[in-house]
Amino acid sequence: MQQTRGRTGSQTKFLLDESQLPRRWYNIRSDMPTAPQPVLHPGTGQPVGPDDLAPLFPMALIGQEVSEDPEIEIPEEVLEIYSLWRPTPLFRARRLEEALGTRSRIFYKYEGVSPPGSHKPNTAVAQAFYNKQEGRTRLSTETGAGQWGSALAFACKLIGLECKVYMVKISYEQKPNRRSLIQAWGAEIVPSPSEETQSGRAILAAHPDSPGSLGIAISEAVEDAAGRDDTAYSLGSVLNHVLLHQTVIGQEALAQMELAGAFPDVVIGCVGGGSNFAGLAFPFLREKIAGREIDVLACEPAACPTLTRGHFAYDFGDTSQLTPLVAMHTLGHDFVPAPIHAGGLRYHGVAPLISQLVLDGLIRAEAYLQNDVFASAVLFSGSEGIVPAPEAAHAIHGTIQAAQAADEAGEERTILFNLSGHGHFDMAAYDNYFAGKLEDVALDDAELERALHAIEGLPAPA
Ligand SMILES: Cc1ncc(COP(=O)(O)O)c(C=O)c1O
Repeated sequence: MQQTRGRTGSQTKFLLDESQLPRRWYNIRSDMPTAPQPVLHPGTGQPVGPDDLAPLFPMALIGQEVSEDPEIEIPEEVLEIYSLWRPTPLFRARRLEEALGTRSRIFYKYEGVSPPGSHKPNTAVAQAFYNKQEGRTRLSTETGAGQWGSALAFACKLIGLECKVYMVKISYEQKPNRRSLIQAWGAEIVPSPSEETQSGRAILAAHPDSPGSLGIAISEAVEDAAGRDDTAYSLGSVLNHVLLHQTVIGQEALAQMELAGAFPDVVIGCVGGGSNFAGLAFPFLREKIAGREIDVLACEPAACPTLTRGHFAYDFGDTSQLTPLVAMHTLGHDFVPAPIHAGGLRYHGVAPLISQLVLDGLIRAEAYLQNDVFASAVLFSGSEGIVPAPEAAHAIHGTIQAAQAADEAGEERTILFNLSGHGHFDMAAYDNYFAGKLEDVALDDAELERALHAIEGLPAPA
């Protein structure tokens, strides 16, 4: 009681005015100590040029993909749509701190206030805008948990494009409400692998019960876009331009931490393809590269431990080898992760920019089992109120561990993490957790070794 009274007057939410919305995206390429490896054409093994990518992406995004400009202006139309939910709030997690009894201060940036419920529309809106500007009328994409599919459906609806979503089959079955949300925003949706593409049919022929994976769904969406002039492909993570668009998160968080009179010792995010992590972490990494001491931690599932156990190698972004080759940490492009509930973290690779920063020692990574992650999610929702998406719960688990490690070391840290989305469409996963039905899956060595055979014979990074 005394403690509560002592805390009145101390602030919980740190809010920015709409006029403080960042007007530029931050491009970390200009500050990276080691330049990322070039993207290679799978046929020639040579670096790809804009013409190779033009069937899939508009020129504005291809330009952003290779840009070394430190900042890129956000178009007015994109800012206008961002202003529906941005700037997003930054919270001090006082109640979580109390529940943990930690001496550390915990802050989180909450991206779940967007209409689709996650960080994903930060790039969906930008991608839909540039595609429309260059005359495309339809976008195709994949989705894991359904967060990205719903974000792109939302963006296409507002900007005026058709949208086709290939949704990983296991999530399609586990998350019927995300599916309905995608349909409510007018997009067409099919479970992947589907009968609608050659890639889908080939996988179904070999594995009729395939639960699907992001790698398979990407193959289907890329094939769809490559086969139609009116359609471009849209990716919700991994690529440089996607990470770029997410940097509004970290720029806002820097200003909000200043309002709180604090600066983080530790910055934490969950990593699937890496976009929400990069969105928060890159503007702080700019400070780290300039000499500030910050521990930057990427959290991933033990069932899909790309950064902690994958190899840094050239690999395809998709299962059917339709995409260019990118140098990244990978588990091999035909790896199908166990059907854990954090569907958005079930991807064999990770963003090349993040991979390079891990190699350079600027980012470290940890992998967790899903029951531990859900236990942290339930502790968080019981103190802060928000029920997190299972993906975001990995960042919560990483945060709790970091706070406990600091307490054990007798240290007091300021920790900032990205709460990338809410879990309102993931309640079946919580039901399974409460019923004790969640399986803890850590990738076994034999399967890792098998999956890595897929990258043998591909070019090696320089
Ligand atoms: C809420 C949420 N967080 C995180 C992720 C992981 O993606 P990324 O690593 O690109 O942020 C997803 C992907 O679907 C997601 O829905």
